[in-house]
Amino acid sequence: MSADIIDGKAFAATIRAEVARDTALFREKTGIRPGLAVVLVGNDPASEVYVRNKGIQAKEAGFASLEYKLPADTTQEALLAKVAELNADPQVHGILVQLPLPKHLDADAVLNAITPDKDVDGFHPVNVGRLWTGNPVSIPCTPLGCSLILRDRLGDLAGKRAIVIGRSNIVGKPMVALLLAANATVTIAHSRSPDLPALCREADIVVAAVGKAQLVKGDWLKPGAIVLDVGINRITEGDKIRLVGDVDFASAVETAGAITPVPGGIGPMTIACLLRNTLACAQALHGQP
Ligand code: GUN
Repeated sequence: MSADIIDGKAFAATIRAEVARDTALFREKTGIRPGLAVVLVGNDPASEVYVRNKGIQAKEAGFASLEYKLPADTTQEALLAKVAELNADPQVHGILVQLPLPKHLDADAVLNAITPDKDVDGFHPVNVGRLWTGNPVSIPCTPLGCSLILRDRLGDLAGKRAIVIGRSNIVGKPMVALLLAANATVTIAHSRSPDLPALCREADIVVAAVGKAQLVKGDWLKPGAIVLDVGINRITEGDKIRLVGDVDFASAVETAGAITPVPGGIGPMTIACLLRNTLACAQALHGQP
């Protein structure tokens, strides 16, 4: 048996089309164009690619896209001043400061300075609290993408056993909150959990977000499980570099019922969810449902 391979690229395109449709309705009703501001400090090549793609997709959705590229030696004060300016700008409904920031900057202080109502990453402690108390506007984009895929495939998750491998603030912890909200029974595992294979074998849903290349093997899976692979790891094979996830795809595809590939699985969902959060922030800021 071989698993269904979940096409994240196609699903993300569907989400973007929904956002574009709802954005057009919002603009018709309010005369307001949602604005997404992205701040990039320095010139990390991967971040530049992300930011460029965010800009292109934001415009395609009907948003105003504002990009601020600050030099690598930007001071904490200057970055906080930029965030304060965007907090106060009525044309801006969503603010994203691209991570990672250069080492001399305090990322937590910067993320905490973004006004929670424009925090399209959902990283501000107020939004973390809103997520756990069941009343979120912005939900961290990668777990939101995972949860939309699960809803599409499985509907309500009542009666399902899920395992989240990884406990980061960006993916693991918010993923757990979303699975609980969808009525799954959730195990949180991580690099220090003993007997990870046995924990995994109990799960109908496996979310791998631990940052270890090809950690989860096919024989760790319950037959028919749905496997969401959030990992993006670069491995060298001979003289080639290859992108792989946290799941050993070749063996997992034999046991799983459905699986997201890397690349082309969860990755494309992230920007689609960022657009969804931006529209949600614009709607909430202007009292629209
Ligand atoms: N860098 C890589 N992914 C992300 C993301 O989702 N949000 C932010 N702010 N930075 C990132």
